[in-house]
Amino acid sequence: MRTQVAIIGGGPSGLLLSQLLHTKGIASVVLERRSRDYVLSRIRAGILETGFVNLMREAGVAERMDRESYVHDGTVISYGNEEFEIDFKALTGTSVIVYGQTEVTRDLYDAAEADEGRVITEVSGVMPHDLETDAPYVTFMKDGKVIRLDCDYVAGCDGFHGVSRQQIPEDKRREFEKTYPFGWLGVLSETPPVHDELIYANSERGFALCSMRHANLSRYYVQCPLADKPEDWSDERFWQELKRRIPAHHAENLVTGPSIEKSIAPLRSFVCEPMRWGRLFLCGDAAHIVPPTGAKGLNTAASDVHYLYHGLVQFYEEKDNEGLDRYSEKALARIWKAERFSWWMTTLLHRFPDQTDFDLRIQRADLEFLRSNEAAQRVLAENYVGLPY
Ligand code: FAD
Ligand code: DHB
Repeated sequence: MRTQVAIIGGGPSGLLLSQLLHTKGIASVVLERRSRDYVLSRIRAGILETGFVNLMREAGVAERMDRESYVHDGTVISYGNEEFEIDFKALTGTSVIVYGQTEVTRDLYDAAEADEGRVITEVSGVMPHDLETDAPYVTFMKDGKVIRLDCDYVAGCDGFHGVSRQQIPEDKRREFEKTYPFGWLGVLSETPPVHDELIYANSERGFALCSMRHANLSRYYVQCPLADKPEDWSDERFWQELKRRIPAHHAENLVTGPSIEKSIAPLRSFVCEPMRWGRLFLCGDAAHIVPPTGAKGLNTAASDVHYLYHGLVQFYEEKDNEGLDRYSEKALARIWKAERFSWWMTTLLHRFPDQTDFDLRIQRADLEFLRSNEAAQRVLAENYVGLPY
């Protein structure tokens, strides 16, 4: 088999890149080890920046998103019973939308289906080869057969645990990591959202987030110890804990119901440098992870896709390598700013086991400064709606 761009991983990064290339007549094949249904069952991000929305439009897959998503012009931040609003629209002139990662992925799979063979699911043993030559290839197994896919370039879009990043020799790769001593327990429930905006809550009992997917589908999170398992959290225990972490008048309005999904995710900051090795380009979680506070995970994946897509188009249409040669530098410059923002939002809003009374006073001062200072609010808003590409 031969294609122009072999894409490892059929999550949002790989599928979006493939779809964008398709609009320019550049051929790609996406290799995904799971089934489509498995990928679509993963409940993850919910907030999309304008940059992401524009890429979906450019890729020609925005019709349902434009119809069904909700525009959010601001967010609430609370600490104890105190709360204030950050008005993105007034501060930056722009907003974010609520549209689940599951829906993004579904739209991209549906679009790819019209083009048979572009996405190959349930493959195993995916391995890129000869990345430092101008004739790289990828081998994989499908239905018991080993297949070789020759290509010009390989996009490593296979998430944090994928094989792509490992292809950069250890002495050429630098990894920066910070882990956090807690996780997020997430619950999805078919209940109306507690408020029409998101609520990011700092409380004595730990962080909580009230989010949503639509008018009758809510997504809530509470900070929990890393050792906890979803089975430790009955629905009753979850709702009680959430109510204790958000301002009382919101807790009174909270409509509870059975959870339809419950999972725990650890929090991590991680960056791999460089993001390019020979003919391999890393995109999304394969190269970097942010803690979810601030909703940057999926959005940073999209900015990588933007830079790589434009670099590839420049190469195929103009025979110019400039965009590809500068890919790692451009992507990382934006990634590190999202890493800083996500780390800061996490630090501002969570309870850390080793926090001293001094640390707690500093955290409160940070919140009160944010509440009263428009410049500080603008910094948050500009980062939240997404820095320019
Ligand atoms: P992924 O979505 O991880 O996709 C990678 C794909 O590659 C997967 O489909 C995987 O099956 C496939 N793959 C892996 N290895 C191989 C291989 N060897 N061969 C072939 N295929 C392979 N972000 C937010 O903004 N908000 C959130 O609330 C949020 N919650 C999250 C919860 C969890 C549990 C996780 C893990 C992430 C969360 N994120 C969240 C982050 C966000 O979901 C990711 O940033 C986003 O999924 C990145 O997309 P991606 O395509 O780069 O990687
Ligand atoms: C969601 C997740 C986030 O990490 C976030 O900051 C906002 C919303 C969500 O899943 O809806």
